[in-house]
Amino acid sequence: MSEKVNMKGKALLALSDLSDEEVLYLIDLSSKLKEKKRSGVRDCLLAGKNIALVFEKSSTRTRCAAAVAAADEGCHAEYLASHDIHFGKKESVADTARVLGRMFDGIFFRGYEQSTVEIFAEKSGVPVWNGLTNESHPTQTLADLLTVKERFGRLQGLKLVYIGDGRNNVANSLMLGCAKTGVNYVNCTPSELSPGKDLVSMASDLASKNGSTISIERNPDSAVKGANIVYTDVWVSMGEEDKREERIRLLKPYQVTMDLMRGTGNMESGELIFLHCLPAFHDFNTEVTKETGAMEVTDEVFESEFSRVFDQAENRMHTIKALFVASML
Ligand code: CP
Ligand code: NVA
Repeated sequence: MSEKVNMKGKALLALSDLSDEEVLYLIDLSSKLKEKKRSGVRDCLLAGKNIALVFEKSSTRTRCAAAVAAADEGCHAEYLASHDIHFGKKESVADTARVLGRMFDGIFFRGYEQSTVEIFAEKSGVPVWNGLTNESHPTQTLADLLTVKERFGRLQGLKLVYIGDGRNNVANSLMLGCAKTGVNYVNCTPSELSPGKDLVSMASDLASKNGSTISIERNPDSAVKGANIVYTDVWVSMGEEDKREERIRLLKPYQVTMDLMRGTGNMESGELIFLHCLPAFHDFNTEVTKETGAMEVTDEVFESEFSRVFDQAENRMHTIKALFVASML
């Protein structure tokens, strides 16, 4: 562990919990752990530890990433779907947190309210990691930054354009992640879906300290000019299904197409990638896209040479592993 960075016992409830140095440290540690796994070394840094994965919402990547990350380092991960335990029904969140804290060395939580993950952190007495809430998705951002760093060899000075639902969990955490690492972040979204003013102001202050900028734009064509990373997410997040029609109406003009990628001016330079946290709607032939028309990226872009979405998905595991190691070792 670097002398300057000591994260033992630390919770990650939102990206704002991490200092700039801690973000860079976790990205670096993730690369090292990734390399270690590739070279076949199994030294079980977390042998004897137990963590609980408490999930209120569905998950493929985050759940599997946490389970494999733990197993790789000799740690046992117990998956607890919230509907399978007494959580919030026969027992308060605070009591569940106190019970789990007596048995586990850490708790990874995915759910709805940010306040729930905060109660876990306050009451459990062990490190708590946010695996997605309505407001934030900090472990996603760590994987995003690792993917960018691997592709470009740097973060500072790049331009990332997030296009779509500008106020969702992924967009919020990514804004802070870019600000903390000197990436210029553009959030391109209709006015109805603008990110919160306080968040933008916090991110702008952090960014200016790191020589980058945060901006909000409405027009996709002008927003993407000079972009190195074009990033999108679903138009309707988990728990917002009743907003589907309105979102499709607002976000249709914000679909990521090959024309939009071309508009970056970086297609020929090789300095351009497409990212998506996944799961993605990218194919007209799925049930949902056929029925609703909700499709944030075309298949052409999703399957193109620019797309790094599966590297990004794999990196969920390496970055979550780094977080576990840094806060439990
Ligand atoms: N990106 C992400 O969090 O995916 P899951 O919902 O599958 O965990
Ligand atoms: N914004 C999406 C991210 C899924 C990983 C959601 O919350 O559903």
